[in-house]
Amino acid sequence: MPKQFWKGSALLAPVPAALVTCGTIDSPNVLTIGWTGIVCTRPPMTYISVRPERYSHDIIKSSGEFVINLTTSTMCRETDFCGVKSGKDINKIEKCGFHLSPAEKVGVPMIDECPVSLECKVTESKLLGSHTMFLAEIVGIDVDEKYIDSKGKLNLQQCGLMAYAHGEYFALGRKLGDFGWSVRKKKKHPKK
Ligand SMILES: Cc1cc2nc3c(=O)[nH]c(=O)nc-3n(C[C@H](O)[C@H](O)[C@H](O)COP(=O)(O)O)c2cc1C
Repeated sequence: MPKQFWKGSALLAPVPAALVTCGTIDSPNVLTIGWTGIVCTRPPMTYISVRPERYSHDIIKSSGEFVINLTTSTMCRETDFCGVKSGKDINKIEKCGFHLSPAEKVGVPMIDECPVSLECKVTESKLLGSHTMFLAEIVGIDVDEKYIDSKGKLNLQQCGLMAYAHGEYFALGRKLGDFGWSVRKKKKHPKK
């Protein structure tokens, strides 16, 4: 079948639907962010793109800090809710029943219910058009100990992470392989 050509749009999928916290523990806010990703490994860097009209926009702009909290399938309803309601009208954290804890390296609190939280410090902000891209260094990561095994390995597949694709939410499913498996030599079975 031939592919149909469409004009350029934001159709990259799947992406995370992350819960991004901003503000302080006494005056926090949270919004859902799909436009995020990793842009560099060393130093570890990420971005979030936020529309200027979002209540969170100026909070992040003035503090230069935010936390990306990874979301799970069981948090799907709350994740959607935080992406359609504004912190200027309601306290989304209270409404969702989220518990917050202080982060290590930034003044922004993290969400306890999320298995992994990335503490971020903005290094650059750029108004690209509809969105401001906040480029940031990941200055620390907080991982729920429940998912760390006795060897210190993080078992991310146990967290039940969620993804967002073309307006719909999905639970991450079956493991298909791991990094480099396609070229890895098979272990020889000992002769019987
Ligand atoms: C799945 C999903 C992804 C979203 N991604 C973004 C995004 O990347 N950037 C953005 O500015 N808004 C995004 N939004 C919309 C904001 O989360 C939404 O406008 C929210 O109410 C803003 O909250 P605030 O006004 O408290 O900051 C998304 C919403 C949903 C449901």
